[in-house]
Amino acid sequence: MTVLVVSNQKGGVGKTTTAISVGAALVEHGQRVLIVDLDPQANATSGLGISKAPPNHIYGLILKEQPIDDSIIATAVPGLDLIPSGPDMAGAEVELVPLMAREYRLRQALRATHDYDTILVDCPPSLGLLTINALTAGDAVVIPVQCEYYALEGLAQLLATIEAVRARLNSRLEVLAIVLTMEDRRNRLSLQVIDEVRNHFPTLVADARIPRAVRLAEAPSHGLPISVYDRRSAGAQAYDDLARELSARLRAKAPIALGGAIA
Ligand SMILES: Nc1ncnc2c1ncn2[C@@H]1O[C@H](COP(=O)(O)OP(=O)(O)O)[C@@H](O)[C@H]1O
Ligand SMILES: [Mg+2]
Repeated sequence: MTVLVVSNQKGGVGKTTTAISVGAALVEHGQRVLIVDLDPQANATSGLGISKAPPNHIYGLILKEQPIDDSIIATAVPGLDLIPSGPDMAGAEVELVPLMAREYRLRQALRATHDYDTILVDCPPSLGLLTINALTAGDAVVIPVQCEYYALEGLAQLLATIEAVRARLNSRLEVLAIVLTMEDRRNRLSLQVIDEVRNHFPTLVADARIPRAVRLAEAPSHGLPISVYDRRSAGAQAYDDLARELSARLRAKAPIALGGAIA
């Protein structure tokens, strides 16, 4: 079981779209996948067609230590499950502060399930305790970066946070990939940003880039991942490529751990 954390403290860079789309692509590849919606805005939840999240899901799991099986719901896509978020998460960041082992809540909760090949955690746009919980629970981080002028802004702070979590809370955490999102091939600025991010992080930038595509923006309003909403679209193809690349990167990094998982 691999826990992938999709994080960037900037909003609107494609975290939720990436979590849902990669998750659904991995299901197409035969995996069982769980998406954990950690964001109080609950976009992964609504994007998977859950309009009124039942109360006490991610909230009950990390604030109340409710059993994980009581937090998981099925989505319209067989093999793709969800721990939804909802309005009760609005105060979670503050409510976590006085709790015992507050950074380890999600990690402890996820330890109780063995039903999934991949768990994808969709983070809120901040570096607070919810994101720290995700990083502490994670094996690897996927960082979506939008192809726009301020693309690199905030990345140093995110990487420093990941480094601090690795040093103090979770030594196995690594950055798996930076994913360039919302690429506009007709726009020279997009090309400049791609070059700039690649120059800064030559090995980390994924070869698969995600185009800016109307179908990707439409899919959440239909409550469906792009692979189901329009499987022939450029966006679906790009996320399928990305899912394959992330799997290959994981295999290259952890041959021993994966060997163990097969047994
Ligand atoms: N590649 C894309 N092309 C077009 N629209 C996109 C793309 N990726 C995301 N969007 C849209 O942009 C907005 C922000 O994306 P989202 O994944 O919610 O970002 P985040 O979770 O980082 O805030 C959403 O409305 C989403 O549907
Ligand atoms: Mg989001």
